[in-house]
Amino acid sequence: MKIAILPGDGIGSEIVNEAVKVLKVLDLSFEMETAVVGGAAYEAAGHPLPETTLQLAKDADAILFGAVGDWKYDKLDRPLRPEQAILGLRKHLGLFANFRPAICYPELVGASSLKPELVAGLDILIIRELTGDIYFGQPRGRRVAVDGHFPGADEAFDTMRYSRPEIERIAHVAFQAARKRNKKVTSVDKANVLETFQFWKDVVTDVHAQYPDVELDHMYVDNAAMQLVKAPKKFDVVVTGNMFGDILSDEAAMLTGSIGMLPSASLDKSNKGLYEPSHGSAPDIAGKGVANPLATILSAAMMLKFSLNQAEAAARIEAAVGTVLAAGLRTPDIWSEGTQKVGTREMGDAVVAAITGKTIKG
Ligand code: IPM
Ligand code: MG
Repeated sequence: MKIAILPGDGIGSEIVNEAVKVLKVLDLSFEMETAVVGGAAYEAAGHPLPETTLQLAKDADAILFGAVGDWKYDKLDRPLRPEQAILGLRKHLGLFANFRPAICYPELVGASSLKPELVAGLDILIIRELTGDIYFGQPRGRRVAVDGHFPGADEAFDTMRYSRPEIERIAHVAFQAARKRNKKVTSVDKANVLETFQFWKDVVTDVHAQYPDVELDHMYVDNAAMQLVKAPKKFDVVVTGNMFGDILSDEAAMLTGSIGMLPSASLDKSNKGLYEPSHGSAPDIAGKGVANPLATILSAAMMLKFSLNQAEAAARIEAAVGTVLAAGLRTPDIWSEGTQKVGTREMGDAVVAAITGKTIKG
């Protein structure tokens, strides 16, 4: 088993270090190889996704990814910006199915911005299509308008598009995931306005015929954004397009108390995957040793389960995270009165200790 380790920018290397530490104490034999990506790769090799990094990612059985991006690269031409690294990996590796669970740990109920009763026990799974939609649709660019409200003016445009097979395959992923959960899928669209999402809704409905045991409902994205803060526990699996999924998954993350807790998996058609925390590179706290490594550690657990066939090892990591939270250890993002504030490294050490059976102070 070979794992490509791509720490990236900002807090990326701090949090990935902790996840690597955890992987190393599991007594499994994998090879890990690290490469630069994002702004770090731009600095080192002049490109956010150098050929060698892409090749390593292609050759590996799974990829553990930190985060990319820093404001200091915002002025670069778009193809050279750090974000292109993750978009390029998704595209070149065909990672079309993005799993973003939003789980509210009992110990963190108070850290949510919503009332505890709304989020206690929350367990929803957002499945975001990741290689299509307006993110990748061509054509896109800038030009002089020939029509519209201001003919002759400069304008910019992107293209929202989805093909039937693209929608079908993500719908299958969602229905199959729901079968292992509470058997309910909410498909989020904007069918009242957009042709692309009327088609989305039609195709998801067609695929649903093969899953009569799973309940399907449809919701407009604006309403979904509202329902997520009004009654989030009504959702089980949410399936949606690339852009709506980007937005709703950040919203859902916040329900759980901290985006610093949420892992994610991006899978191709044969379950090879890239695993990354749902949060970004947080350049404002980079290098300070305060970032929460748990999302990355839990991403490593997802990797063991989905791509490396090591469900038992994954369960050990998940249990260890539960143990450190129960012991009262908290990084600043999830800290509250009466709990013990720890840094990135101490949190990683505590997870390692919980796995290896040592007691942790708390
Ligand atoms: C995410 C991020 C990315 C996205 C950025 C960094 C390109 O926001 O993974 O949600 O928009 O997909
Ligand atoms: Mg996002």
